Amino acid sequence: MNLLEVKNLKVIDKEDKKEIVKGVSFKVEKNMCLGIVGESGSGKSMTAKAIVGLISSNLKIEGYAVFDENIDLFNIKKDKLRKIRGQRICMILQDAMSAFDPLYTVGYQMIETLVENKNLSKKEAKKVSIKTLEKMNINDPQEVVKKY
Ligand SMILES: Nc1ncnc2c1ncn2[C@@H]1O[C@H](COP(=O)(O)OP(=O)(O)OP(=O)(O)O)[C@@H](O)[C@H]1O
Ligand SMILES: [Mg+2]
Repeated sequence: MNLLEVKNLKVIDKEDKKEIVKGVSFKVEKNMCLGIVGESGSGKSMTAKAIVGLISSNLKIEGYAVFDENIDLFNIKKDKLRKIRGQRICMILQDAMSAFDPLYTVGYQMIETLVENKNLSKKEAKKVSIKTLEKMNINDPQEVVKKY
């Protein structure tokens, strides 16, 4: 069973019509993993961002991406995609300095994600955040959540 199937995915700059991702196709079967290798700037992150619907408005997507056999990710209502993203499919960004917002604390950003995706109260989400940091062997999680 294919968990994800991507066919001829293109990401195109609307302004200069440049193809940033030039027709990528792959399948990921259930319980399998897939590594994508390529030089810096070749479009690996852009491919992932397109699949989870997180590309900026100056870019357009062509092709198709089907999740779990029948969820057409490029033709699904935004609120439905929001429900899937973060719960069933997600992207882990490589660069913490640009993935996080420096104006908000680590705790604020962890809690925000947990409240949105796991339906927890803020209090519960804070507990989970601290426990998770502990699990990752981060020193002094109580203090870390207060840091920017
Ligand atoms: N919002 C944007 N508008 C136009 N082009 C963009 C935008 N964001 C990124 N790009 C360009 O898209 C191309 C692909 O970048 P991407 O970040 O996907 O590469 P990558 O393969 O993930 O590289 P790395 O290995 O360094 O992570 C780059 O040339 C980048 O400059
Ligand atoms: Mg990248």
